[in-house]
Amino acid sequence: MLAGKRITLIIGGGIAAFRALELIRRLRERGADVIPVLTAGGAQFVTPLSVSALAASKVYQDLFDLTDEAEMGHIELSRAADLVVVAPATADLLAKMAHGLAGDLASTLLLATDKRVLVAPSMNVRMWQHPATRRNVETLRGDGILFVGPNEGAMACGEHGPGRMSEPHEIIDAIAAALGEGPLAGRRVLVTSGPTHEPIDPVRYIANRSSGAQGSAIAAALARLGAEVIFVTGPASRPPPAGVQVISVETATQMHDAVQAALPVDAAIFAAAVADWRVRAPSGRKIKKDGKGGLPRLEFDENPDILASVAQMKKGRPRLVVGFAAETDDVVANATAKRARKGCDWIIANDVRPETGIMGGAENAVTLITGEGAESWPRMTKEDVAARLAGKIADRLAGEK
Ligand code: C5P
Repeated sequence: MLAGKRITLIIGGGIAAFRALELIRRLRERGADVIPVLTAGGAQFVTPLSVSALAASKVYQDLFDLTDEAEMGHIELSRAADLVVVAPATADLLAKMAHGLAGDLASTLLLATDKRVLVAPSMNVRMWQHPATRRNVETLRGDGILFVGPNEGAMACGEHGPGRMSEPHEIIDAIAAALGEGPLAGRRVLVTSGPTHEPIDPVRYIANRSSGAQGSAIAAALARLGAEVIFVTGPASRPPPAGVQVISVETATQMHDAVQAALPVDAAIFAAAVADWRVRAPSGRKIKKDGKGGLPRLEFDENPDILASVAQMKKGRPRLVVGFAAETDDVVANATAKRARKGCDWIIANDVRPETGIMGGAENAVTLITGEGAESWPRMTKEDVAARLAGKIADRLAGEK
């Protein structure tokens, strides 16, 4: 099942570290190669010798190790695998990851890697439930980090609750899904996200309040199900998730070109808040006040409708085209009309009146409009909207190859 796959396994300093030994054994039984990295804490629980013997590999432990740097530097090490797995992932390691700290080899690898990262948390129930850990987990999920567990049960410390590391077989299943054996494995999906910036002159532009949060969450959720995700993003305030192919653009025209270049895809989700108009002739120099109170006049051209151009393709159209409708009035009626006008299969309608706090906020309340009708979802986090939408996309594409 995992033949030929390379897994970098970071073993953190928790009592569950001993179960990482079994994980290594099972990974090797399935044909995977394991590159083990042991934190200083991890080495208090398992010895480098047992890790090395089971992995049949050198164990990496120090950031500043001359021999290691000569053989395989820490940046190379961070990219050498198909997937980076952290098991056990302690509260400390999660906090370091969430804040981008890079004070030792494990955290540096996690910051430098261009591969997807799967973590198996393991800690005392109170530590898991602490607001600081909650915040860190939320941040990491938003960054596209994959989680397996923790499970609920009796803990080594004698307490009971969520915090137990997942069983090795559960971690193996999560690794398989992360390596593209999920329901969207083999599917190529495009997601547009964020605002666009339309230049007026070299320092000024026209933009909108989109943060890119919903688009990022959708891209992360699709990647978690095994899809190859092409993420075309305008200048969003949220960083793109890990594990997706990021194409950064500024203007609607650039976004249009990037989308066309990314085709063909199985599904395309247009979550970007694209500017409807661009300034006809942006000035090459900063526009100055004339000192007499004269006002500049801007003329506009209409931007290409990226969603409509893909939804109405005669040949090579993605099997599923999903648009968004940010509305302030008559949300469902307007979005239903928009679905027909643009020619897309589904529209996710949301109410962006300022009092909803949705635009730029953490939550969303959406109505999914399909050919069959409208389905309103309760208000939930943008991550939950993304997970539910990704599940529906997987169901829709299932069986059509
Ligand atoms: O027409 P309106 O901007 O409300 O349509 C919103 C939907 O169309 C979103 O899915 C958005 O990403 C997409 N769109 C686009 N290109 C444009 C304008 C909107 O792809 N120029």
